[in-house]
Amino acid sequence: MSRRSLLQIGAATTGTALVGAAAVAVAGPAGATPTARLFVHGVASGDPLPDSVILWTRVTPQPTATPGSGRGAVVPVSWEMSADPSFRRIARSGTVNAGPAGDHTVKVDVRGLTPATSYWYRFRCQGVASPVARTRTAPADGAAVPRLRMAVVSCANLQAGWFSAYRHLAARRDIDVVLHLGDYLYEYAPGEYQARDVVVRPHDPPREMVTLSDYRRRHAQYKTDPDLQALHALAPWVVTWDDHESANDAWKNGAENHTPGAEGTWSARKAASQQAYAEWMPVRYTPGGTLYRRFRCGRLASLSMLDLRSYRDEQVSSPVDPAINDPARTITGPDQERFLLEGLADATVQWKLVGNPVMIAPVRLPSTLDARAVEGIGTLVDAEVPPVAGVPYNVDQWDGYPAQRARVLGVLRDRGIRDAVFLTGDIHSAWAADLPADPATYPVTGDSLGVELVCTSVTSDNLDDILNTPPRTASLAVETAIKANNPHVKYLDFDSHGFSVLEVTPAGVQMDWFTLIDRTDPRSAAVWSTSWRVPAGTRKVQPAPRRLA
Ligand SMILES: [Fe+2]
Repeated sequence: MSRRSLLQIGAATTGTALVGAAAVAVAGPAGATPTARLFVHGVASGDPLPDSVILWTRVTPQPTATPGSGRGAVVPVSWEMSADPSFRRIARSGTVNAGPAGDHTVKVDVRGLTPATSYWYRFRCQGVASPVARTRTAPADGAAVPRLRMAVVSCANLQAGWFSAYRHLAARRDIDVVLHLGDYLYEYAPGEYQARDVVVRPHDPPREMVTLSDYRRRHAQYKTDPDLQALHALAPWVVTWDDHESANDAWKNGAENHTPGAEGTWSARKAASQQAYAEWMPVRYTPGGTLYRRFRCGRLASLSMLDLRSYRDEQVSSPVDPAINDPARTITGPDQERFLLEGLADATVQWKLVGNPVMIAPVRLPSTLDARAVEGIGTLVDAEVPPVAGVPYNVDQWDGYPAQRARVLGVLRDRGIRDAVFLTGDIHSAWAADLPADPATYPVTGDSLGVELVCTSVTSDNLDDILNTPPRTASLAVETAIKANNPHVKYLDFDSHGFSVLEVTPAGVQMDWFTLIDRTDPRSAAVWSTSWRVPAGTRKVQPAPRRLA
């Protein structure tokens, strides 16, 4: 059977599973069905390898066993996986214990699976079955793969709106993997960061998350969202964190939004955020280990997932600080830099994709922006932006670590590496950019070493929200000025919220961007916005004639 037919079977039957998954949260625990009471937080899968995948759920065996409470009994939870959606032939099964030590989360790394195969899975606890969901293994290493389709998302602030982006993706029938580039959740207290001035849905717990119990409760709240549950049930996710999974503008020894003393030590808070992440996300990660890791899709592509928060040096206080050019400054740490360079130089795969939480393309501030626009950009990047033309506009990105970026891009140049594509989130805006060999000569030479494609936020505020202007009005002039001053930036949308879909084939990579009509409307429609593609071998991005079929 062809891979495409398998995908179609998966699509046809996943619809049933999604109804179940969505019903969980719609019904809610009070007066809910036994499934809704036991499996309040849905089911998920992730980190697909050719022979294994992570399965995840969380059980609530007693009403008192609430997330973060540390209460409730240890209970057995069984799981089963089948290559058919009716579970006639069970491929793998087992039983694990869930208890308060792990916040009643369940994670299984199922091994011995067949490559490039769709599977259905479910859990059972106290005689109650979970919703059924679909997952899929990666193709075998070295296999010829004609096509990979990924959903690409980042920055889903629950207080700023509804996760309609996830719902629209969950309704698609072509998604092999969901790539989440970070800011899966936000640390803020109600009223601290929302949709313009409106808290669409208040955060729980009703305070900034700081302790392990806080982080667990916040993860739990996000996982009650029916659209989030539906997208988890559709396909395996590959995730990394950015800063808000711990605290804003995190670096290795602190964060902008962490107050030592009043909020304890950074090391304790970081450990709490990492433990909750390991418990609540379908990811092959244990606290103390590394989150950066690599996936392969046959000979077609590799996907190197980066962690740009755990090892980075502190952000410089200003883009005009000369320390910014210190060659010792690192955003990855030395071990992860080696890991990244190995991945980029791997000649056994065609496309070298990088799951890159913050932008790598250089972006310099134009001299033509008015004070209000500069202030708005400063709010967007959460830093003081001096009105100095030509300085990097956001030193929390790779722009704050230019010597290391030059080393990484230099490897692309020196080794003649083609087909490197950085996939990025974080900045609540949509970008397509070449990665210039030298930004100064690029306008003349057009020399590019790779490409960066940036998805916008699912809900989090961006420039029109900050300026309090209607979408696609005041921001247009800012975008035009930035593109004029940075000619390698081909596409920029500072206003829209939504999601992207990426297709990878031997002939090229294409990203489609979709925009939500209204993030504060739980039923919001999504419309196609634009498409850009990278023809194989060119290292340059260009407009795509049409969206993906
Ligand atoms: Fe964000």
